[in-house]
Amino acid sequence: MFFALPKEYREATADDLRGRIRSAREKLGKKLVILVHHYQRLEVVEFGDHIGDSYGLSKIAAKQSDADIIVFCGVHFMAESADILTGDNQQVYLPNPLAGCPMADMAEMADVLAAWEYLKPFGGAGQIMPISYMNTAAGLKAFTGRNGGLICTSSNARAALEYGFSRREKVFFFPDQHLGYNTGIAYGLSPDQLVLWDFSRDDGGLTEKQIERAKVILWKGHCHVHTNFKPEHVHDVRRRFPGVKVVVHPECPHDVVKLADAAGSTSFIVNYCEKAESGSIIAIGTEINLVNRMAHTHPDKKIFELSGNTCPVCANMYRTTLNDLAYTLENYLDIKPIVVPEPMKSEARSALEKMLEIS
Ligand code: 13P
Ligand code: SF4
Repeated sequence: MFFALPKEYREATADDLRGRIRSAREKLGKKLVILVHHYQRLEVVEFGDHIGDSYGLSKIAAKQSDADIIVFCGVHFMAESADILTGDNQQVYLPNPLAGCPMADMAEMADVLAAWEYLKPFGGAGQIMPISYMNTAAGLKAFTGRNGGLICTSSNARAALEYGFSRREKVFFFPDQHLGYNTGIAYGLSPDQLVLWDFSRDDGGLTEKQIERAKVILWKGHCHVHTNFKPEHVHDVRRRFPGVKVVVHPECPHDVVKLADAAGSTSFIVNYCEKAESGSIIAIGTEINLVNRMAHTHPDKKIFELSGNTCPVCANMYRTTLNDLAYTLENYLDIKPIVVPEPMKSEARSALEKMLEIS
């Protein structure tokens, strides 16, 4: 789908856009709430009523009572989740409709259903709990809900795994193999209890024995931003900056996570930077806009991006500009909101609500 903003918005100056956003906000008052993910550009973060990680923002979306216009500066799956958790009288808008998530796209419905079908003789829904990372399309959240499973984010994946194992023998975790692997290892599983389902291969590329022995079947998806980080980056910063603390997002590969001082969601990283003593040196393995904002917000600490040269930008998060935000606020009545149809919405909601209950 091609989408271009009208010229008037494309060519406006930043000052003009800021003024227009401020007055649209004033006019809409309590009817409007702007939710902003931590990876958004600094100038967009400025306008967030709430800034948070995908879990925190979903909780805030679910609690909105006054606002019936919810503008979600993030990516598509986040806006869909907000629509699932809000009432029919509330409309959710994604200011840049092209903002998707390549990792979410790595789990296609047909492939997931084929894998689930294959796994039936190994226990099916009676013994295998589907756990879907928030970074999935609504249809997959609905699949998860239909099969008694739940959604997780990077801040509650451990609790989701505990929930899964308290009720069933195995977990089917998709689409991020790294979050699943890191969580499984931290939970105490051994590497051979975590197997990788490769959707491009027959039988997921696994033998029956591997599946029987497995506790977690991981989907072969990844985030190209976080898989940029390598163990040599950690070794390198430790050599160059004695005393440095390394903190990474759990979408990073396990060989990076295990060398880090701490790993956690984007909100965890924000709190880590806030709580660190003045003068701390912190190398962060996550998206560059968040890292730059942390460096900017804490000038008394030396905060920098871990790899030093890979520029880990999430181009999809970066798509949302002040131009998009101004256009959305001034024209929301003519813009198609993000709508998850029934029965998908109710099925997905049951999986999302389970996440909110256990966290
Ligand atoms: P959080 O759950 O930390 O917000 O991360 C979402 C995401 O897309 C990270 O790449
Ligand atoms: Fe998706 Fe990675 Fe961007 Fe997060 S950082 S939205 S997982 S592509």
